[in-house]
Amino acid sequence: MSTLITNIAELMTQDLEHRVLKDAAVVVEAERISWIGAAADAPAADDAVDAGGRAMLPGWVDSHTHLLFAGDRTAEFEARMAGEAYAAGGIAVTMNATRATSDFDLTRLAMGRVAEAVAQGTTYLETKTGYGLDLEHEARSARIASTVADQVTYLGAHLVPAGQDPDKYTELVCGPMLDAVRPYVQWADVFCEEGAFTAEQSRQVLTACREAGLGLRVHGNQLGEGPGVQLAMDMGAASVDHVNYLADQDVKALAASWSGWDPATGTGERGTVATCLPACDLSTRQPLAPARRLLDAGVQVALASNCNPGTSYTSSMAFCVTTAVLQMHLSVHEAVRAATYGGALALHRESGRDADGERAVGSIAVGHRADLHLLNAPSATHLAYRPGMPLTYAVWRAGNRER
Ligand code: NIG
Repeated sequence: MSTLITNIAELMTQDLEHRVLKDAAVVVEAERISWIGAAADAPAADDAVDAGGRAMLPGWVDSHTHLLFAGDRTAEFEARMAGEAYAAGGIAVTMNATRATSDFDLTRLAMGRVAEAVAQGTTYLETKTGYGLDLEHEARSARIASTVADQVTYLGAHLVPAGQDPDKYTELVCGPMLDAVRPYVQWADVFCEEGAFTAEQSRQVLTACREAGLGLRVHGNQLGEGPGVQLAMDMGAASVDHVNYLADQDVKALAASWSGWDPATGTGERGTVATCLPACDLSTRQPLAPARRLLDAGVQVALASNCNPGTSYTSSMAFCVTTAVLQMHLSVHEAVRAATYGGALALHRESGRDADGERAVGSIAVGHRADLHLLNAPSATHLAYRPGMPLTYAVWRAGNRER
């Protein structure tokens, strides 16, 4: 079964050539894109959809979320808006609520959040454990997460639960807890920050997880110029996320990590993606991550929602893109790229078909997964020009029309 989507006013491919086609068409066959080009040259297909002169982008790739949670942190948010600073300790509130929730309800909550994201154009997403924080509940979160998200990250090292010895807890994270989550996760992450895990504990966790065959990511430099970026470099992490406070040497190191990669062909050794989380920055009243500075230095940047109940209770990638353009000084093309191709790069899903047979996501090219986002607007510029407007008109995820 093939579907021709035609009369696309602007097709922002975010492929390796950065093409933006006018009066374009796309053909979808099963879960893949089989043709793109000028609408006038489009081949026949079993079915046709008239895009009505709207703009099409790749579906958003949200490479940083925390969707496995129960409970509410409105009071903490209100206190923050009244002037209190964000602190890692709030994670414990969500941990208690999450532990007290049944498997059925936790699954239902997470599925509802994924559905909200998809309805806004997200077609591929990562999510993390990190609100269980003991063996039983981390394993449960990982298992449920693997049924609702495309990729799962183990974040047992999110916070040391109250009353526990930090070194003993770190050993648990590196040992029995890791064994219990391992069947369900592809990545490991650590919150390397004042009030969470020290550089030494973080390194211990990442080393054990790497030995267990997991890819690595780091929550770093969120609350100050900490050791997170340096640690991510040392460990060869796929991404370092938050990056609000960066010294010049951090930016240089991130840029240098991409020296073995050729952006024109998308080949070579990937470096460490700097993942910026603008909704979180605003909700915690931190300075916005310096995405412009990072791009100018040659760093590969991703934008992600960081959807979680503490610091960023939104899955709106469009909001992140709007903020990146209006306040972080990215062009619309750069911001959309960071929210699509950039996220895919952070999740190692930007190219080819890998060993498990998954297709590339985050760009529109022949052979890639048919993850498409049709805006109710003639160009992607409207994402910034009409902030906050509900611009998602249609969504295809792996070739299925989701909206
Ligand atoms: O990415 N920074 C650490 N983890 C989450 C927030 C967790 C929470 O406060 O619940 C984040 O912002």
